[in-house]
Amino acid sequence: MTSQQKSFGSDNHSGAHLEVIQAIADANGGDSSPYGADLLTRRVTDELRSAFRSSEVLFVFNGTAANVLGISLLADSYEAVICAEFSHLNVDECGATERILGNKLLTVATPDGKLTPELIAPRLTGRGDPHRAQAKIVQIAQVTEVGTCYSLEEIRRLSDFCHSESLYLHADGARLANAAAYLGCELGDLAQGVDVLSFGGTKNGAVGAEAVIVMRDELADRAQFLRKQQMQLGSKMRFIAAQFAALLEDKLWLRGALQANAMASRLAAGIAHVPGIEVKYPVQSNAVFAELRPEHIAALQQEWTFYVWDEARNVVRWMTAFDTTDDDVDSFVAAIRAAS
Ligand SMILES: Cc1ncc(COP(=O)(O)O)c(C=O)c1O
Repeated sequence: MTSQQKSFGSDNHSGAHLEVIQAIADANGGDSSPYGADLLTRRVTDELRSAFRSSEVLFVFNGTAANVLGISLLADSYEAVICAEFSHLNVDECGATERILGNKLLTVATPDGKLTPELIAPRLTGRGDPHRAQAKIVQIAQVTEVGTCYSLEEIRRLSDFCHSESLYLHADGARLANAAAYLGCELGDLAQGVDVLSFGGTKNGAVGAEAVIVMRDELADRAQFLRKQQMQLGSKMRFIAAQFAALLEDKLWLRGALQANAMASRLAAGIAHVPGIEVKYPVQSNAVFAELRPEHIAALQQEWTFYVWDEARNVVRWMTAFDTTDDDVDSFVAAIRAAS
């Protein structure tokens, strides 16, 4: 059952691009080699490898698995991952990394979702002490959990810091397309200085398609074995490849991300002067975080779908997607104004 009224709950609430659905249907003709040995998977992984200037590209089924596989390439179980307190890795993956890999997460409070060398440095204690989990990875999310983006300069600075401290840099790119759209750069630019990252399709108009991008040659060989162990080697891989093929065609990934971002900006502009509403973070992607009065939240939620991000502070998260329209936003803005 689909809803007529647009959800502002998550870009996961949206359907898929018709081009993606068509590409899946087109990939359905006849038999094909399994487990990624088919021509389509080989062609699309080659295209992604060259777009990212990467060593290896591996498709997986979802974003949590992409994070777990990426981290498993970079650390032993006694090593730790430094990440933002609000990160999806820490909050919304049910401890998958801790459960499946055993890595401890060392969390850092951040004002805007972004890690910096200065915020990371205090977590580098106990190195060499066998009683302490050993920091080995810094994980950033690009886009961050609060919708902000790291600039290329910020990533370069983090990368230099990490590598000078013998740390790997991992990027959760569930919304990498939105970051590229915001920064006006190529996907490959976002991978430079990062050791392993993910490239999400699902939130940007795919049905279910995520890629793990391995930037270092020496990490690539193990990746296919770890993916299989982690139950992410799809036998009918061509259907994931087909989704990425559609997203790459005429940069559908970018068109979708630009639309989603533009709709969040439109929403933020539309509510900018509504009394009692305060936007909490810079709107740099497809999310608007705003503080509202509790009764205002309750009234709006009678008709509209969105999440309360921080109950204690009455902060809500409004997300747009590739298929959010001007009319969707304008109706929502009118409802916000009417309820205020
Ligand atoms: C930043 C981020 N990373 C990863 C994911 C992966 O999610 P899933 O495992 O649900 O595909 C999400 C989904 O909400 C996300 O927002």
